[in-house]
Amino acid sequence: MKVLVVGSGGREHAICWKISENKDVEKIYCAPGNGGIALLEKGENVNITGSDNLLNFALENRIDLTIVGSEELLVDGIVDKFKKAGLKIFGPDKKAALLEGSKAFAKDFMKKYGIKTAAYEVFKDVMKAKEYIRKCEFPLVVKASGLAAGKGVIICENLDSALKAVDEIMIDKVFNDAGHEIVVEEFLDGVEASILSVTDSRFIMPFISAKDHKKIGEKETGLNTGGMGTIAPNPYVTDEVYKTFVDDIMKPTLEGIKAENMDFAGFIFFGLMITKKGVYLLEYNMRLGDPETQVILPLLESDFIDILNSGLNKELDKIEVKWSSKSTCCVVLASGGYPKEYEKGYEIKGISDVKDLVFIAGAKEKDGKLYTSGGRVLNVVGIGNDLEEARKKAYSSVEKIDFKDKYFRKDIGVLYR
Ligand code: AMP
Ligand code: GLY
Repeated sequence: MKVLVVGSGGREHAICWKISENKDVEKIYCAPGNGGIALLEKGENVNITGSDNLLNFALENRIDLTIVGSEELLVDGIVDKFKKAGLKIFGPDKKAALLEGSKAFAKDFMKKYGIKTAAYEVFKDVMKAKEYIRKCEFPLVVKASGLAAGKGVIICENLDSALKAVDEIMIDKVFNDAGHEIVVEEFLDGVEASILSVTDSRFIMPFISAKDHKKIGEKETGLNTGGMGTIAPNPYVTDEVYKTFVDDIMKPTLEGIKAENMDFAGFIFFGLMITKKGVYLLEYNMRLGDPETQVILPLLESDFIDILNSGLNKELDKIEVKWSSKSTCCVVLASGGYPKEYEKGYEIKGISDVKDLVFIAGAKEKDGKLYTSGGRVLNVVGIGNDLEEARKKAYSSVEKIDFKDKYFRKDIGVLYR
């Protein structure tokens, strides 16, 4: 079997690493891939972008299964194109991808199907948005409705900053077309959890929970990033929280998917906020998370390809999935300066001294050596009998790896609340 994975991050490296365990998988193409995927025995990077070129590649190379890592192509309708051409692809069609591609659509869906989410209003008009904001309490959250690479959310402490956020998003278009519409919503104070899952539109199978660390600085300070580290399972997802998630969020989401005639096999990532007032759904992502995937897949004892195939065959309710009882901790090594400007092209040393898993995110291979090529460079994953052991392992490996301007957070997995 030949698999095509679309993407270039640590998430895609983790996906390629996990599916290479399957004996039927003879070849994994990754477009465009990265330096880590190139080093996998079955892996090969292919420099192809855009859904039409990817479709041609898949047809010419008789690809048996395509897995799309990131959201842009999904929202653009790559799944519809592949399905029309008779190819197997795992992911939401254009309609279901709107649950991530439009926050306004997702919030209306949550409201319609009784899913607990922050109170909100949607605006396409600047004056109406400002009129509403003047009556609100603070802090308040202003969001660009469209895709903005995780950066389109502005938490506003007062009226001035909220009015400025509206101008930036809707008039200055700092997030381009993502800001043609905004969601203004209630601020929720709590701890976040990521629950990733797979669905065949008849059944949702949740994965083990995870926790992201989104800010660049320790104790969740400074600028937002794509994620500076993750742990799994998430210690805040108690049995009670999990049950609330299943009953009040996951089940009504499935009802909504059925009622809206969404028919796909793909991932759903539930972004949760656990507060004193209960568990809220912040957002849906219709793909795996990065760096959540890097801590979840190492705990999956079942075959990943089998799960995806069961989804495509609409048989997810018939399979048993096994998880390890261990814990994982992923520390992201970034280029100093990220998420703003940073230098790249520095040689990475010491990875071969590390026994733990290292997933490559932004690094290129040249003549057998790895060089930094992005903001988030490496994902070092420790596996332990508990969170503390997983943390210790990850951080001891982090010390062995070096490149110029290496930056990482020292508090991944520290429980502050
Ligand atoms: P989203 O893309 O909607 O998940 O937002 C990105 C991040 O912004 C979330 O992971 C939270 O850290 C934060 N955020 C979003 N909505 C809210 C909210 N209503 N209250 C507090 N923080 C939020
Ligand atoms: N780690 C959050 C995301 O993948 O969107």
